[in-house]
Amino acid sequence: MKYSGIIVSVLNLLFGLLLFWGCAAKITDDNNTSNPVVPDKYAVPLKVVATFPVGTVMSLSTFSNGPALAIVKNEFSSVTCENAMKIAATQPTSTTFNFSESDSITSYCVRNGIRVHGHTLVWHQSLPAWLTAFQGDSAAWENILKTRIKTMLTHFKGRVKSWDVVNEAFNDDGTLRAFATATNSKTSMWAQKLGKDYVARCFQYAHEADPDAKLFYNDYGQEYSSAKTAAILAMVADFKKRGIPIDGLGLQFHTNIQRSDADLKNAISQLSSTGLLLHISELDISMNSAQTFTQPTTTMLDTQKSKMTAIAAFYKTIPVLQQFGITFWGISDANSWITNDWPLLFDKTYSKKPAYFGFWDGLKQ
Ligand code: G3I
Repeated sequence: MKYSGIIVSVLNLLFGLLLFWGCAAKITDDNNTSNPVVPDKYAVPLKVVATFPVGTVMSLSTFSNGPALAIVKNEFSSVTCENAMKIAATQPTSTTFNFSESDSITSYCVRNGIRVHGHTLVWHQSLPAWLTAFQGDSAAWENILKTRIKTMLTHFKGRVKSWDVVNEAFNDDGTLRAFATATNSKTSMWAQKLGKDYVARCFQYAHEADPDAKLFYNDYGQEYSSAKTAAILAMVADFKKRGIPIDGLGLQFHTNIQRSDADLKNAISQLSSTGLLLHISELDISMNSAQTFTQPTTTMLDTQKSKMTAIAAFYKTIPVLQQFGITFWGISDANSWITNDWPLLFDKTYSKKPAYFGFWDGLKQ
């Protein structure tokens, strides 16, 4: 008995040491970049904290990646197919449509109560070889355009209720992407073959095919190109005047830690001033644009964290009815389209990064 006090205090000391040892291991592991001691409030998933849909992307490979699929299911309420609905994947030949990958993803999401946002019907990139080689006249091209839009919307009607009808139709200088110019290397066969008003017709065909679908124009660079933003706002005003159906605008926001919060907020304000639905549609914040780092520093991680907070918090200030949602262009740094970088909320081991906690905090503000 007389030694019991000593035994208890020795046991307490040992227990304390063990606890400290566990935490210390977490702090020193640079690789998975996760935060030291994480308050369990962050155990509440993003989709529960958010007052609007929060999304990510999926591909067929997601199904064979347990940690990635778990994150999709636990954290997100919206999914965009990273590539499966693009023309290269859905129209392998001029006469066939292939929905195998896009249907698998869509069915999974519908089964799990996850919204699916369609991406994308008409884009100048990811064109199949048969189309880039197509020699038909403008009427034949118009028929390809109309058939694509009608077939896609009819196939996914009722399951996919919103679409990026046209993606990236403007150059950074605000001109319509068509032929290569001194300042614009990227071209658009759609504009070349169908003329400058093809965008409007895309929206008309889409509305005819599914009058209930929400129709978006999606683009990047609004946070750094006032000329492109002006071109998009002018297009919206023109569409409203002509009665061309458009419901929303997508702000891709492939941005970086050097981009000022003011530029990001300005882009959100300008586009939400149209009164249309606003989708931050492809968010990632790269930290290694110059490819000079092999590991993110704590400062870079903290900057990314505060930028995620700023974006989420500011997005909440736009009218609620316009809050279509925020979608990340990737599940984790392990499967981002950006290589040698750490642009997303989860690190390469699928652990939460400071960015996750920053975005979470922003949703709560
Ligand atoms: O499916 C083919 C496969 O059969 C072939 O073996 C392989 C090797 O060439 O290529 C595979 O296609 C690749 C496709 O991703 C699917 O993995 C294409 O080469 C590759 O270019 C394509 O990259 C996608 C890119 O868009 C072009 O479509 C990226 O994953 C995707 O993240 C990226 O996403 C775009 C948005 O749609 C629009 N905004 C910008 C964003 C980033 O570029």
